[in-house]
Amino acid sequence: MATAPAKLILCGEHAVVYGRPAIALPLTDLRATATVTPAPAGSGPLIRAPDLGGQWRVTECPNEPLSALVLKIVEQFHIPTDIEITIHSAIPIASGMGSGAAIATAIVRELLAVGGQTVPTATIAELVYESERGYHGTPSGIDNTVVAFEQPIWFQRRPSLPPLIEPVTIGTPLTLVIGDSGVRSPTRLPVGAVRERWQAEPERYEALFDHVGEIVTAARTVLAQGDVAALGPLLDANHALLCEIGVSSAELNRLTDAARAAGALGAKLAGAGWGGVMVALTTPDQATTIAAALRTAGAVQTFITTIAATVDAA
Ligand code: PMV
Repeated sequence: MATAPAKLILCGEHAVVYGRPAIALPLTDLRATATVTPAPAGSGPLIRAPDLGGQWRVTECPNEPLSALVLKIVEQFHIPTDIEITIHSAIPIASGMGSGAAIATAIVRELLAVGGQTVPTATIAELVYESERGYHGTPSGIDNTVVAFEQPIWFQRRPSLPPLIEPVTIGTPLTLVIGDSGVRSPTRLPVGAVRERWQAEPERYEALFDHVGEIVTAARTVLAQGDVAALGPLLDANHALLCEIGVSSAELNRLTDAARAAGALGAKLAGAGWGGVMVALTTPDQATTIAAALRTAGAVQTFITTIAATVDAA
């Protein structure tokens, strides 16, 4: 069995599509799993996804993104094809928590393990990026990168170069409360709407994206310093900009307001928006109070998670 984590964008979503930096965190205690078992000779790869309510033979729907991923890997890495791949995931789908990237990464890891292959983490991230493209069209690449590397990352697209990917130093553990609005929102819809608005009003949106980029840069500094109190207002400011960009919703605003009223240091929507999850930054002792306030305000589920401090690699 192989696994891969959920993820959360701490700051910088949407602007990251337009070349500004973003910071993403792996949620290591919320995971997807993939298990390969042998199947009768000649049967070909079968994907079983009981949590997603289905199973399918990959050769019968070769363009479905997970099927395409499996077909590519078995061919490229000479993996046996008479297999069943069973996937499970505790990660809410279409909610900004990277469930698609986590499932795809778990599948890649398991297939490579079955084939006795070891590849660089960047190669796993690239393989998963291809399947993300099948779902989202033009993803920035931040989801597959943070899920494959499983560490807090700074991610920035660059013209004519591979994206800049750097570890982010976390000086003090972060306690986060994630609230799921229960509204499923496929990433490509808000991403497509932002593109239309950017095309209609490029100067306005470039300025908003610049402002988001400044917040992300400031967040990196305070994260390294372990200055959790200073991070809160930056998350609030990022949320206000996401509202201006047009990707929040009444439900997400209600949840972020409720988190702040219950004592959160800061709160913002996380991911593509219009639905999905929000995140609140808190001190450890306030976490359960904030989770309860989020449920009262309509969250269908809440997760309390701690992001461990990192040792600076430099
Ligand atoms: O997959 P989500 O919902 O976490 O959104 C991804 C973040 C965006 O910046 C909105 C899109 C992207 O490709 O980076």
